[in-house]
Amino acid sequence: MKAIQIRQFGSAENFELVDIPRPVPQAGEVCVRIMAAGFNPSDYKTRRGYVGGELPMVLGKDFSGIVESCDSGFSVGDEVYGYLGGKCSNGSYAEYVCVPKAFVAPKPFGLSFEEAAAIPIAGLTAYECSRKANSMLNQAVFISGGSGGVGSFLVEFCKSSGASPIVVTTGGQASSDYLIKHCGLQPEWLLNYRDYDASTLAAKAVAINHGKKFRHAFDLTGKGMKQVGCAVLDFEGTLSTIVPEDDDFTLRLWHRRFSPAFSKSASIHFVFLGARAIFGAEMDWEYYTARLCDMAKLFESHTIHLPKIQTIGELSVDTVQQAHALLEKGNVQGKIVMRI
Ligand SMILES: NC(=O)c1ccc[n+]([C@@H]2O[C@H](COP(=O)([O-])OP(=O)(O)OC[C@H]3O[C@@H](n4cnc5c(N)ncnc54)[C@H](OP(=O)(O)O)[C@@H]3O)[C@@H](O)[C@H]2O)c1
Repeated sequence: MKAIQIRQFGSAENFELVDIPRPVPQAGEVCVRIMAAGFNPSDYKTRRGYVGGELPMVLGKDFSGIVESCDSGFSVGDEVYGYLGGKCSNGSYAEYVCVPKAFVAPKPFGLSFEEAAAIPIAGLTAYECSRKANSMLNQAVFISGGSGGVGSFLVEFCKSSGASPIVVTTGGQASSDYLIKHCGLQPEWLLNYRDYDASTLAAKAVAINHGKKFRHAFDLTGKGMKQVGCAVLDFEGTLSTIVPEDDDFTLRLWHRRFSPAFSKSASIHFVFLGARAIFGAEMDWEYYTARLCDMAKLFESHTIHLPKIQTIGELSVDTVQQAHALLEKGNVQGKIVMRI
């Protein structure tokens, strides 16, 4: 089969098109002919070597496709989508993959392969963020990074729960236009994080919420937004974050009574989609099928809508390099996918 692989970690110049043997499913695995693959920031982080792994490596974690073979659970020809989080034969920049069944679910009815491939990582992460916020999602929320992959889905969850205002940071006109025109947010809810320092940004966010602090804030970007999230929180509020920080992070979360969370009796939720896949055992993986099925129902019932999805090409070195360059530049609106 054709695949795009790397033999060493580093720049996107390392991608090469290769012909490698088609993978053979092990017990409990499903073999899928991939029809579309989605791109995520974790792809370029892996390519750079941040998370290690065995080389040569075929990257890509989001996919949709058609079942080629399976011992139980699925039938040949079933249309599926999934997340290559566990131990799989290879990533989704390839024509086929063998993956434990627990990471696969029926493709949402009515969605194209490209649309389905855009959902797994970003959609499930946003879904988890919304679950952490619980019943509080029908109130004012603050989101850093609402125009990206996770942010676009999270805005949908907030809208469908009746959240208002949904105060979102944006980095420029393209993101603002997208959030207003595609996601239906009000222009006065958007805050350009490049225009203000952290404390002014927090004050502006509270002003948009009529001077009231927020019950829930979401940090989808890091880069100082945890501090802003804590600053906008009300007493007993919750901050959900999906981004871990490097060692030089200066927020002294546990430090005496002045911790930004302790001083507000606030909760901090961490959301890591890969937790069960990487650190759990096989019995923990069923979670992924369940969540993928939940997500499918939400799209089928039109409870939430798709973000903007850009199909940037077909399986090739050029397509993959383009996708990585766009994501590394850091201002993708919605999701990018490729056809296989
Ligand atoms: N924990 C998990 O399970 C999990 C799952 C998925 C993703 N992630 C991580 O979460 C992050 C977001 O993922 P994603 O898929 O949404 O990425 P994405 O599609 O690239 O979107 C990120 C967005 O962040 C905004 N941004 C960039 N720099 C910023 C800054 N300094 N301050 C505020 N906003 C900034 C950009 O929008 P503007 O145009 O407005 O600048 C960009 O659209 C990535 O670091 C990713 O690795 C974690």
